Amino acid sequence: MSILVTGAAGFIGSNLVQHLLKKWPDRRIVSFDALTYSGNLLNLEPVRDHPNHTFVKGDICDREGVRAVLVDHEISGVIHLAAESHVDRSIVDPMAFVRTNVDGTVTLLQEASEAWGDRDDVRFHHVSTDEVFGSLGDTGAFDETTPYSPNSPYSASKAASDHFVRAWHETYGLPVVLTNCTNNYGPYQFPEKLIPVVLTRAMAKRTVPVYGQGSNVRDWLFVEDHCDALATVFDRGQNGETYGIGGEAEVSNLELVHAILDEFDLATGNRVGASRALVAFVDDRPGHDLRYAMDISKIRAELGWHPTVTLKQGIARTVRWYLDNGAWLDAVSGGEYRQFEELWYSDRDGAAT
Ligand SMILES: NC(=O)c1ccc[n+]([C@@H]2O[C@H](COP(=O)([O-])OP(=O)(O)OC[C@H]3O[C@@H](n4cnc5c(N)ncnc54)[C@H](O)[C@@H]3O)[C@@H](O)[C@H]2O)c1
Repeated sequence: MSILVTGAAGFIGSNLVQHLLKKWPDRRIVSFDALTYSGNLLNLEPVRDHPNHTFVKGDICDREGVRAVLVDHEISGVIHLAAESHVDRSIVDPMAFVRTNVDGTVTLLQEASEAWGDRDDVRFHHVSTDEVFGSLGDTGAFDETTPYSPNSPYSASKAASDHFVRAWHETYGLPVVLTNCTNNYGPYQFPEKLIPVVLTRAMAKRTVPVYGQGSNVRDWLFVEDHCDALATVFDRGQNGETYGIGGEAEVSNLELVHAILDEFDLATGNRVGASRALVAFVDDRPGHDLRYAMDISKIRAELGWHPTVTLKQGIARTVRWYLDNGAWLDAVSGGEYRQFEELWYSDRDGAAT
């Protein structure tokens, strides 16, 4: 069996490819990625020479390229992660999100339907986010029946892509599964997302920007646990069904930032708590959702999956990984990322940067 992983050179994609090659020694993995600013072949370096792995550079919006990879590699499963994924960028440039997340997903659906015809031994797994459900109050949790209510251009584009995947199943009978996951963290996360931002700025002794008062609450899942959930749903999820995935680890952004900075102090021999002084509160993000949380009863009961890495363990492993991988950080932090960082943060923490 050959499986196409789109977005394979990104954060979750590269962790997933490494995970699948270990878990499924009898299957071939074809990594597909346009290598945008957030995708980097360095992330796939550990599996570059793996006999069951091939990398194909390509854009999911390019029909011919998608068709060629599906046919040439006799793909019978797709795990679709390629996306524009950063909420702040979606506020600056929403059309890029419509292009990749909506047009790109529909292109993949069309080409997979075309290539597979009526086959039922195939599967299209669409990887989505809990952000499509909007924002929660102080209590409760999203589940698979929660109505969609996206608030940012990012979550609106992911919501649209989810609807198209469902529509392809209902209208054309394409065998699909969908997953909606809470915030991921761990190795290979591009340094514009919250946890690597905190770490990289602490390493450079720069201020650590925190939106508003840091009171927004998120549920965090260690990326390896997400990869295991994706493999589980791909193999055993019910055709046409959606599964919520989460870490059952809710914390406010400020609590999380403090935990990371304390772990950083511990790992680098600083007085624990010293780096908390770097926190600088900045104007809140427009449309910033207050709280996300996911009820994972369905995947737990139907497929027996549950998270295995606690937030404390995951943060310790993540801090260690970033401290040990300075060369990776330098390599991925150049160019377009720097320009974006200047645009977004320069007027927010002024002299300290
Ligand atoms: N990171 C999270 O916390 C999280 C949580 C839930 C769901 N998700 C979803 O998981 C997926 C992966 O997220 P991530 O955090 O790894 O993102 P990422 O930004 O790190 O990676 C995205 C990858 O997609 C590639 N890509 C972008 N546009 C492309 C195009 N047009 N054609 C081909 N490749 C393209 C990029 O080069 C990059 O390698 C996304 O669909 C995201 O919505 C992420």
